Amino acid sequence: MLRLEAVRAAYGPVEALRGIDLEVGAGELVCLLGANGAGKSTTLRAISGLVRPTAGRIVFDDRAITGAEPSAVLASGIAHCPEGRRVFPHLTVEENLAMGAYVRRDREGIAQDLERVCTHFPILGERRRQAAGTLSGGEQQMLAIGRALMARPRLILFDEPSLGLAPTVVETTFAIIADIRRQGTTVLMVEQNAYLALQMADRAYVMETGRIVLSGRARDLMNDEKVRRAYLGG
Ligand SMILES: Nc1ncnc2c1ncn2[C@@H]1O[C@H](COP(=O)(O)OP(=O)(O)OP(=O)(O)O)[C@@H](O)[C@H]1O
Ligand SMILES: [Mg+2]
Repeated sequence: MLRLEAVRAAYGPVEALRGIDLEVGAGELVCLLGANGAGKSTTLRAISGLVRPTAGRIVFDDRAITGAEPSAVLASGIAHCPEGRRVFPHLTVEENLAMGAYVRRDREGIAQDLERVCTHFPILGERRRQAAGTLSGGEQQMLAIGRALMARPRLILFDEPSLGLAPTVVETTFAIIADIRRQGTTVLMVEQNAYLALQMADRAYVMETGRIVLSGRARDLMNDEKVRRAYLGG
């Protein structure tokens, strides 16, 4: 479904991606692990069009999306749930959700999905006219996920969805991601909680300084000596 071929990207003189090859099959949940600064977020940003690759190709459903505008990537079926949630604090919950559907034109479908998201996340339903900035961290994460779903994506990119959340909220967040995947949406996820991520994922890639250094079935990586030492605490 998604394929990255030798993708490179840089921030000015800093080369953040040094040739990334990665694949995500339809219906898979794939996770991307790696230390701080390895290039995980940049990989997701390159896919969603927020960072323009300097070399390589990104193919989604057999169409090249390399260097496409974020709105075009979203319209093609890829939604990005960014690091740090990034909801619009001064807009209401409902307005934030509506923003997620900005590339869609089917008004009725959008209204239906808004109700669906509010039913799925009751807390968002209860607070729909409240400014997003007044929500707790966990609630903002729900909102960020709900907003991504409003695009009716076929592929969702999650960047550290559990970061800064209380343990019980982390559990809820992962349950929601598992649920999204069960309903047929493909998931590519960056997560610093390698243990939880590998338990849930089909396959994983490990990044180091802009390169993929290891990849395989999540189950196998969980038993890999190097992965255990570096990411699972021994
Ligand atoms: N906006 C930016 N401007 C300049 N350099 C950046 C920018 N964003 C990231 N970088 C650099 O690019 C490299 C990759 O960063 P990236 O954010 O992709 O890493 P990451 O794996 O997501 O790390 P983390 O686990 O800390 O989120 C790092 O060296 C980082 O310092
Ligand atoms: Mg990051």
